[in-house]
Amino acid sequence: MPAAIAHRPIAALVAADGLALTIDLRSTHYSVPGGLMAFKTDGLALPSIAAPMFLVSCPRMVVAACRSGIVGAVPSLNQRTAEGYEQWLDEIEAELAAGPLPGVAKLAPFAVNLNVHKTNLRHDADLAITVKHRVPLVITSLGAAKEVVDAIHEYGGHVFHDVISIRHAEKALAAGVDGVIAVAAGAGGHGGTLNPLPFLYELRRLTDKTLILAGAISTGQQIATAIVAGADMVSMGTRFIATQESEASAAYKTMLTQVSASDIVYTPKLSGVNANFIMQSLAANGIDLANMGDHGPASMEQELGPDSKAWRDIWSAGQGVGAVRDIPPIADLVTRLRSEYNVAATRLKAL
Ligand SMILES: Cc1cc2nc3c(=O)[nH]c(=O)nc-3n(C[C@H](O)[C@H](O)[C@H](O)COP(=O)(O)O)c2cc1C
Repeated sequence: MPAAIAHRPIAALVAADGLALTIDLRSTHYSVPGGLMAFKTDGLALPSIAAPMFLVSCPRMVVAACRSGIVGAVPSLNQRTAEGYEQWLDEIEAELAAGPLPGVAKLAPFAVNLNVHKTNLRHDADLAITVKHRVPLVITSLGAAKEVVDAIHEYGGHVFHDVISIRHAEKALAAGVDGVIAVAAGAGGHGGTLNPLPFLYELRRLTDKTLILAGAISTGQQIATAIVAGADMVSMGTRFIATQESEASAAYKTMLTQVSASDIVYTPKLSGVNANFIMQSLAANGIDLANMGDHGPASMEQELGPDSKAWRDIWSAGQGVGAVRDIPPIADLVTRLRSEYNVAATRLKAL
């Protein structure tokens, strides 16, 4: 392990000045061959990403998040065709030209999620469109590919990669990604199994690049907790499903406001791999896990296809769902998260 990394100071020094918050992330900046700088979080309303979510995220969410000062993200596969994906990028770019909302210091950059799994038939077309539009941040999932990272770096974009293990992180870092998203236990979607604290610790020992924690983070205090524990940013999914702008159905959003951590079930039987779903949603679809085979769909095409019930009818959420009790507009949610974050910072300062 390089000494500089072993003795690296805590990633973010959170200082509260009354309710004015300073996030000092200078220590996360670094140079890579080619001179690309690390993804900068300074000036954002919060060091947060409204996570990309299959069948949930949409341009309206991305625009609302970015104009509120946090990174908004959408999976390219939320559009049925590559042409549709490009139309969404046109739409997002046009709307972001309006700049940040009044009172918001800075427009946050937006992100797309590219599924780089070998069974994704849209891979090449979506990557070419992403490069053409010079999307500022690309979140890759299901395989870290050097050629994808190189293509994004070529135009100055950044790449974060979803990982659920140290081994996955090592592979992603070897492929040259700019940051790793540690998808910890209890995360919505394809959650991991590692406790976030040792996961962050071991990742930080591995790299000085941007670390993003994902999983069961639903409040501003929890964002602050992640930063204090060594993350540079967080990625929040479940909390953002229950917002005015999300594409989730009204029934899905309402269910989120009524269930808690103990209602979340982690199973490989519905999606191809382990994922977290809401028990009440399984029951509403007449599904009894005890009577199902060990594994869900064998391929991604099958999992994301029109006959699959996972995601569309059987709803996913992370263990942070108990903190979701309303369905606000994203701008109001970000304001609330920021004031909760400030409360946490004030507590820390008083210690
Ligand atoms: C309904 C749903 C769909 C998701 N779809 C994707 C996806 O398509 N691509 C992806 O990278 N992550 C996906 N995720 C994971 C999120 O990006 C994020 O890592 C996760 O939601 C964070 O955990 P939290 O929901 O507990 O906040 C999904 C999560 C949920 C809840």
